[in-house]
Amino acid sequence: MQALVLAGGEGTRLRPLTYTTPKPVMPLAGRPFLSFMLDWARGHGVDEVILSCGFLSSAVRRVLGDIYDGMRLRYVVEEEPLGTAGPVRLAYDQGVLEERLFVLNGDVLTDVDLTAELAQHERTGARVTLALYPVEDTSSYGVVPTDERGRVVAFLEKTQGEAPTNRINAGAYVIERDVVGERIPGGRPVSFEREVFPGLVGEGLYGYPAAGYWIDIGTPERYLEATWDLLAGHPRSNLPPRDETGSLVYENCLLSGAHLGPQSVLGRNCSVGTDARVERSVLHDRVLVGADAAVTESVLAERVRVGERARIEGRAVIGAEAVIGNDAVVGEGARLDPGTRVEPGAKVEPGARIEAAESVP
Ligand code: GTP
Repeated sequence: MQALVLAGGEGTRLRPLTYTTPKPVMPLAGRPFLSFMLDWARGHGVDEVILSCGFLSSAVRRVLGDIYDGMRLRYVVEEEPLGTAGPVRLAYDQGVLEERLFVLNGDVLTDVDLTAELAQHERTGARVTLALYPVEDTSSYGVVPTDERGRVVAFLEKTQGEAPTNRINAGAYVIERDVVGERIPGGRPVSFEREVFPGLVGEGLYGYPAAGYWIDIGTPERYLEATWDLLAGHPRSNLPPRDETGSLVYENCLLSGAHLGPQSVLGRNCSVGTDARVERSVLHDRVLVGADAAVTESVLAERVRVGERARIEGRAVIGAEAVIGNDAVVGEGARLDPGTRVEPGAKVEPGARIEAAESVP
């Protein structure tokens, strides 16, 4: 079975992390994000993956290569963003699609049962089957109601008030190749959600009631949530063992006298100084945290340097190679572009957005 993974978006909501590393290979619990998706797909019989790339495509290829644990990886690279359906048409035009394939959004961490979705697709004779996942709060998603036979009856965009179902499009489809040729126009951006699927209602479009774990990692909040879930063992993965605080520390980290955890990830070659605290946070590779500093519920991209006694408060996201001076404070929810310099003793206000060229005096 073949899968096409949509991996070409700019990931604007995950900025500033995605300025330097595209979302598909963003480290999640210390591993390139797509490696979790590839393991999942392989567990459901996928033996060839087409990676549909655009934004920073060479970085995706450099990290994942052409073979992943015995699975062949092919790359279809678009010159201009083609949306979610347009890239599938591009792969069709390049003659690389099998008769039936999975199409997967490249930013979901999930253990949804693709084998059962495919079995339902075959049983119903569907042309397209969408995994539909139940969420508690539908306010930030469109919902997809189905009839008693599983046929999709509508695509409802985010609406105010009571939704008719709590099932949302989980971004995991089974699609017949002829639908791609007939229903997705070539040569321009096309959206599955807004254009292709609404036009297929009543014409062989089915929903599969998905269960299990599902989260899209497209915002810093959900990226952290997915990290904590993975550390706690959901979904199951072959991550290295966690320490007694539920944290994961990769090779060549120096931690003498630091207080690490709970639920933190230290990438390779990080150093955390004496009496510094790193709690519920993610440090990518080569991050340095000075003595007595504190990092709480935040994400620090590669090569960030945090000075002695500095404080990074909750939900901050700090871009690659930023330098936070001694005694500085980065307020809750602040986002600092790659290369930002915060001078010693300076304060970045909560929620601030610091652009790359600025330094904070
Ligand atoms: P935001 O900018 O934060 O909304 O993120 P995004 O660019 O990833 O968009 P979104 O989360 O809606 O995308 C869902 C999936 O489709 C992700 O896996 C994206 O990589 C992928 N995707 C979005 N737009 C494109 C595109 O134009 N081309 C390709 N090949 N993939 C895309």
